[in-house]
Amino acid sequence: MKNLTSESLRKMYLDFFESKGHAVIASASLIPENDPTVLFTTAGMHPLVPYLLGEKHPAGKRLTDVQKCVRTGDIDEVGDSSHCTFFEMLGNWSLGDYFKQEMIPWSFEFLTSEKYLGIPVEDIAVTCFAGDGDCPRDDESAQKWIECGILPQNVYFLPKSGNWWGPAGTTGPCGPDTEMHIIRNHAEADKLNSDQFEQAPKGTFLEIWNDVFMQYNKNEQGKYEPLAQRNVDTGMGLERTLCILNGKDSVYETDIFETAIEEIERITGHKYGESEEVTKAFRVVLDHVRTATFMLGDQKGIVPSNTDQGYILRRIIRRAVRFGRNIGLPGGALSEISSKIIEKYADIYPELVENSAKIKEELDKEEAKFSKTLAQGIKEFEKVASTLPAGGKIDGLTAFHLYDTYGFPVEITREMAAEKGLEVDVEGYNAAFAEHQAKSRAGSEQKFACGLADHKEETTYLHTATHLLQAALRRVCSEDICQKGSNITEERLRFDFNFSRKLTPEEVQAVEDMVNDVIKRDLPVVMREMTLEEAKAEGFTGLFESKYGEVVKTYSIGDFSKEICGGPHAEHTGLLGTFKIAKQENVSAGVKRIKAILIK
Ligand code: ALA
Repeated sequence: MKNLTSESLRKMYLDFFESKGHAVIASASLIPENDPTVLFTTAGMHPLVPYLLGEKHPAGKRLTDVQKCVRTGDIDEVGDSSHCTFFEMLGNWSLGDYFKQEMIPWSFEFLTSEKYLGIPVEDIAVTCFAGDGDCPRDDESAQKWIECGILPQNVYFLPKSGNWWGPAGTTGPCGPDTEMHIIRNHAEADKLNSDQFEQAPKGTFLEIWNDVFMQYNKNEQGKYEPLAQRNVDTGMGLERTLCILNGKDSVYETDIFETAIEEIERITGHKYGESEEVTKAFRVVLDHVRTATFMLGDQKGIVPSNTDQGYILRRIIRRAVRFGRNIGLPGGALSEISSKIIEKYADIYPELVENSAKIKEELDKEEAKFSKTLAQGIKEFEKVASTLPAGGKIDGLTAFHLYDTYGFPVEITREMAAEKGLEVDVEGYNAAFAEHQAKSRAGSEQKFACGLADHKEETTYLHTATHLLQAALRRVCSEDICQKGSNITEERLRFDFNFSRKLTPEEVQAVEDMVNDVIKRDLPVVMREMTLEEAKAEGFTGLFESKYGEVVKTYSIGDFSKEICGGPHAEHTGLLGTFKIAKQENVSAGVKRIKAILIK
């Protein structure tokens, strides 16, 4: 096995798949486009769902990328050796092009060839789908692996629990997969048959890569119907793979965190690894500062708030502050650590450098806000906790008070309680929270489940209306206005943009009139593909997520709106109905939000 740095592994993966005819595409934003059911991009395939379902991708049928991902389901586990809330996924896709017969030999070549990872064949185990009523046993993949050179005794068959991937939400593309593992303990591995694989002692096998053969769509009735096209979707976690290849005990010991660890050591005088408690605090701070840096610095950057993505970001920063105190991190330190993270990723994710001032400002602000109340809140918590017997429960009102007055997200209170063997009445907390919200405004539902892009007609029309809104805002308010965020549900659109003040009633009226005028003119919405440079030259605006030379989709609506965008859109504006601005909100000093609806 080779010792690789994060930079060389990324490059090696992309170069390999480029040599197999794949277009290298840029990482999409961490904030999913037009997907109301999920807060963050959770896998490399996530931004590609429309294309896996059959829409044509402008860069072709073979794609590869490194995708920024966030998964916060296991946030309480962060601090151990393997969990991270942010990670990068190396991946490649066939959109109705090649399938198992090509993919398995490529995986084998990349894993074993001396030119690439150089893993000895006898150290690789693969698992294939065992078959059930939905889909037959995947003997074809097993056969292909053995033909390539995998030892027959290292091929295992597992049921859906082990060898099925997707859908990302409740419905959507999915299929059987074949997973590749490094055998770390041959003596244990040799004793196991397929039925015992999933019970193998921890550390016997380390999963390194997953090839999904997406050939089904799980429908709303839970049935698996064949997809019109057969796809391949693969995913290799960058940090995890580096850790395995370099024989490290944890992802925090890879080159990714090296300079940030040195910075924490310099600031606090503590040493990473000095004790279990100190190591845990280092890891929580490292992971959370990295995730917060990527969220704040994203193309569609978000800021801390009390709802949706902003709430997760707030919770992550505050958890970092709390653990940082355990190793004596002073105020302002998070942004210093963040600047090391930005330096490390500067060449790969230039948006972090472009947004570095904002990242620093928001981190400092949120840290200062929470620091003010942290000590007081801890005192209050200790007071309540000391009155409870072991196994006791902190009541919902107290948990809400800690949130409302001292800024403790309930998850942090729960974690602090658990450290003392106590629980929190979360239902009671939710009831207190809902009551409070009802007094001010409607509660915001939490959207934690994964989901797929919603292509229902309503969302498509609202997407087109979003383009019209942006074009109208640029004409009525300021030419400099551009999108800072967009979220669409079936009921409304939400559009964040850079502007320093609320629109006046006259401006609201002018924007509505302008959009409704374009709707009435029933203009066609025209999609054209071109390179990013051509699109820029023709005056298309958009989030420049794409790479130099990449072919992108552009949508124009007469000469009124010209945007780089993945679609889908209404075919002509007459379908939209009547556009109405329902609400204006403040997101942050320079960012305003409009919620708007279409009335049929
Ligand atoms: N979508 C697959 C995964 O996330 C490749 O593992």
